[in-house]
Amino acid sequence: MTRPAPGQLAALGQLALVELAESHLDEIAAIETVSSPVPWSRSLFLGELSMPPSERHWLVGTIDGQVAGFGGVMLVADEAHLMNIAVDPARRRHGIASHILTRLMLDIVEAGVSHLTLEVRTDNAAAIRLYDDFGFVAAGERKDYYGVGKHALIMWAHDIDRPDHLAGLHHLAGLRHGNELGETP
Ligand SMILES: CC(C)(COP(=O)(O)OP(=O)(O)OC[C@H]1O[C@@H](n2cnc3c(N)ncnc32)[C@H](O)[C@@H]1OP(=O)(O)O)[C@@H](O)C(=O)NCCC(=O)NCCS
Repeated sequence: MTRPAPGQLAALGQLALVELAESHLDEIAAIETVSSPVPWSRSLFLGELSMPPSERHWLVGTIDGQVAGFGGVMLVADEAHLMNIAVDPARRRHGIASHILTRLMLDIVEAGVSHLTLEVRTDNAAAIRLYDDFGFVAAGERKDYYGVGKHALIMWAHDIDRPDHLAGLHHLAGLRHGNELGETP
């Protein structure tokens, strides 16, 4: 698992991770529009807010009150599905997605989840490397999932509640709270 260099994050300012709220939706939709070839609409995100907390968990990373990134999972029994994660293009490669994924994983383990899955475009090298770092492994492909010729890689992170994995996540989260990465609690 990787972690960003503290100097990089210092340049970003203070990152806060908060629950998704309706007030974030315009900024999230704007980031989504420039981040995905098949972007979610604002109303799709709005619909997520009406789902029960036992079935959804969305987090938003903010810096100086501005949305820098977001991510969310769907929970079904002891499994969860990473539905979306994206970071403002101007703030990428500073560890924001890693922070969001770390906190999402810790939260869903606390909710009883052991296995996390996702789909990612086979040509999305940045995201695949991020997921590799977090212990996801490829488990198959969905042909034409994103349109003709645009295939999805199915990835799974199994047993995310095992002690060594949790220790790694707590290490990353602890770094944040230890101020090294400048995040506010
Ligand atoms: C994928 C994405 C969320 C990563 O966000 P980020 O905040 O830049 O990611 P991080 O800074 O936490 O990167 C963590 C690791 O992921 C990998 N990574 C991230 N961006 C990368 C890139 N452009 N090229 C190669 N590896 C990359 C690296 O291993 C990186 O660690 P390093 O910086 O120490 O080398 C961001 O690029 C994005 O929003 N992309 C568009 C939306 C998207 O594709 N979402 C995934 C849908 S499945």
